[in-house]
Amino acid sequence: MKFFVDSADVAEIREVANWGLADGVTTNPSLLARTGRPYADVLREICDLVDGPVSAEVVSTDAPAMLEEGQKLARLSPHVVVKCPVTIEGLKAAKALSARGIKVNVTLVFSPLQGLAAAKCGASYISPFIGRLDDIGQDGVAVVDQLVRILRNYEYPTQVLVASIRSTDHLLRAAEAGAHVATLPFNVMKQIVKHPLTDVGLENFLADWRKTKQTI
Ligand code: E4P
Repeated sequence: MKFFVDSADVAEIREVANWGLADGVTTNPSLLARTGRPYADVLREICDLVDGPVSAEVVSTDAPAMLEEGQKLARLSPHVVVKCPVTIEGLKAAKALSARGIKVNVTLVFSPLQGLAAAKCGASYISPFIGRLDDIGQDGVAVVDQLVRILRNYEYPTQVLVASIRSTDHLLRAAEAGAHVATLPFNVMKQIVKHPLTDVGLENFLADWRKTKQTI
């Protein structure tokens, strides 16, 4: 399973890249707006930090304008994957971008059939937003499970990129469902290797070792 960093914060992305856990990055308009910086500068810096796909989203709502924005975003770096929303116009743009050899991540997916439609239009990635589904009392991971099975049934090359992850439990369940990628906010990324027994175990090992007065 690949781990992407769900952030437009260059410092966070640099840190996760140093841990060796950043296989890619996903941004969205809200995350880029939060930086208060020109989007192209931020995206170029991110693309220099990570040797993997970096999703950047179009902000128009009609297909011709999305196509133009997508091509502009893709010119920033070969790492850029263009995010289009799963609307009719977004799917038209996704198909046109894919036909031009530009990878597309179809975003704001909340149902398995939206994901299937995106796969049919040539999406490289589909992004189910599981946390937002949980927020309205639905089971986000169940949609991931359905998407994985549907793509497998028809041998689509499209990858399920699980988004809107709020906890390590989300990550664990997405991995069990066979999702190809999980995009993780920094706070969840930090929790992945945390376990209280690891901390206690390490403390005890080191205390015992100090008593020997040896160095390695
Ligand atoms: C990433 O591609 C999505 O935009 C992001 O995961 C959405 O997360 P949120 O629901 O926490 O805003």
